[in-house]
Amino acid sequence: MATAELAGKHLVLGMTGGIACYKIAELTRLLTKAGATVQVVMTEAATQFITPVTMQALSGRPVYTSQWDARMPNNMAHIDLSREADAIVIAPASTDFLAKLAHGMADDLLSTLCIARDCPLLVVPAMNRQMWQNPATQRNVAQLRADGVDVLGPDSGPQACGEIGDGRMLEAAATYEAIASFFSSKILSGRRVLLTAGPTFEPLDPVRGITNRSSGKMGFALARAAQQAGADVHLVAGPVALETPWGVFREDVQTAQQMHDAVMRSVADADIFIGVAAVADWRVDHASEHKIKKTAGRALPSFTFVENPDILASVANLPHPPFAVGFAAESDNLELHGEEKRVRKNVPLLIGNLGPLTFGLDDNEVILFEAGGATRLPRADKLTLARALIAEIAKRLPDTSLIR
Ligand code: C5P
Repeated sequence: MATAELAGKHLVLGMTGGIACYKIAELTRLLTKAGATVQVVMTEAATQFITPVTMQALSGRPVYTSQWDARMPNNMAHIDLSREADAIVIAPASTDFLAKLAHGMADDLLSTLCIARDCPLLVVPAMNRQMWQNPATQRNVAQLRADGVDVLGPDSGPQACGEIGDGRMLEAAATYEAIASFFSSKILSGRRVLLTAGPTFEPLDPVRGITNRSSGKMGFALARAAQQAGADVHLVAGPVALETPWGVFREDVQTAQQMHDAVMRSVADADIFIGVAAVADWRVDHASEHKIKKTAGRALPSFTFVENPDILASVANLPHPPFAVGFAAESDNLELHGEEKRVRKNVPLLIGNLGPLTFGLDDNEVILFEAGGATRLPRADKLTLARALIAEIAKRLPDTSLIR
């Protein structure tokens, strides 16, 4: 999560009765850590699952549970609580509460708040699979969507009742991602983005290989930022230990050749290609099928290398290339090599990592090389930087009507 990416956002977090209430403790922590202020409002049923004291401690604000709460000087909690809100998020949203919302009922503080609101409403359903599949629930959800309510999830999988199916609430982290995405401006709406990220792994034999220190963090952060900006994102990832960003389609590969083939299969659909992966320039010709044994007295193994395909250059040299963006990690003299590399790779934009190699670090500073000159972006964490880079890329895109 980027530092304070929800700074200045005020959310009303409405909790209704369901075992998924336990996930809201973590969600509240994620939201407040991202800089949002969170006003928790609970239904009577929600307080049976988790206490208002817990939610007050986590949100740092008194929790409201009753429409007769006398703490508001004007006695209008149902109006005042959402007045400053950028959104109301109902999580978990029970079957009963979805029905109430769909029918405009207002018989407790939270439902009254929702009907009296002047801000977007997001609901995060949580229920048993039969309750979710019930035609009445499906009707209510369809009605809510038609009314402009954002329905986040539900997820599929094991449920508290012991059954398996649709209806369980998104995990706290996924709910957070969906909320952060909701607040991002959709500057890449309708665009398809193809990215490569991470290192590649070139085998020497079945157990050994050559790789590099790329962590994949920058590529994954860009994939997340592009998804949040409304793009349809396809991420081709080398071997990394990172979670797939929410809403991103991920394809795992090992070698440069596999990465090249995966990209070439999908590039015709892409409007933007971002080559972030640290692709191995060479691979061993005819890697051994068997583990190379260390035998006393035997000559040391030697390897012949062959060149890997240059994925970025292959994409950039297509007859109708997408807007292709490259990355350059130079250990010295980036200013000199950056523009030269951009021209050699035939891309309109090349992003150079400034300073020492930043593999695995969370901070980065970059220079944008393009035909018109070079621009330096301020040092930032990789997620903030990813958002800035997506904004820079969006600015430089040709008009949609001119895109293939
Ligand atoms: O030439 P160099 O490896 O420094 O170029 C870096 C850029 O080229 C990155 O965007 C990287 O993803 C891309 N690249 C590639 N295929 C290669 C080598 C690099 O796509 N075989």
